[in-house]
Amino acid sequence: MRLTLNGAVTDVEAAPGRRLLDVLREECGLTGTKEGCGEGECGACTVLMNGQLVVSCLVPFAQAEGAEIRTIEGVGDHALQQHFMSEAGAQCGICTPGMVMTASTLSRDATLEDIRIALAGNLCRCTGYEAIYRAIQRARAATSA
Ligand code: FES
Ligand code: FES
Repeated sequence: MRLTLNGAVTDVEAAPGRRLLDVLREECGLTGTKEGCGEGECGACTVLMNGQLVVSCLVPFAQAEGAEIRTIEGVGDHALQQHFMSEAGAQCGICTPGMVMTASTLSRDATLEDIRIALAGNLCRCTGYEAIYRAIQRARAATSA
């Protein structure tokens, strides 16, 4: 099956009914995308599919045919990733790739409220969220300066 994966046209052999999450991790070697709940509730497995955020644990691989998929390995928002580190926005790290994927879709002038709403589907059991919000705000401020 052919798809565009982080900007590169890629052929991947996998059963159409497998979860996109598993195909990305096991067939494509893109282990940055994490599994949290496996039931569409935590956002850890978030990727971009044709520019839209999706939870890859609920996407059958068949739906990815011809799609443009972007994972944490291809997000390319280094300010965001650096501020997650410097603000301690990542602890165990399971939620972090999904958080970064969601945050990467926010506009430069996103308010704290915009950030909270956008991340409502991304759960974190470690940080209490404040460090995550701060990391995103600092990254946005750095890239709009
Ligand atoms: S692992 Fe996909 S939403 Fe939790
Ligand atoms: S850093 Fe552990 S779940 Fe968010």
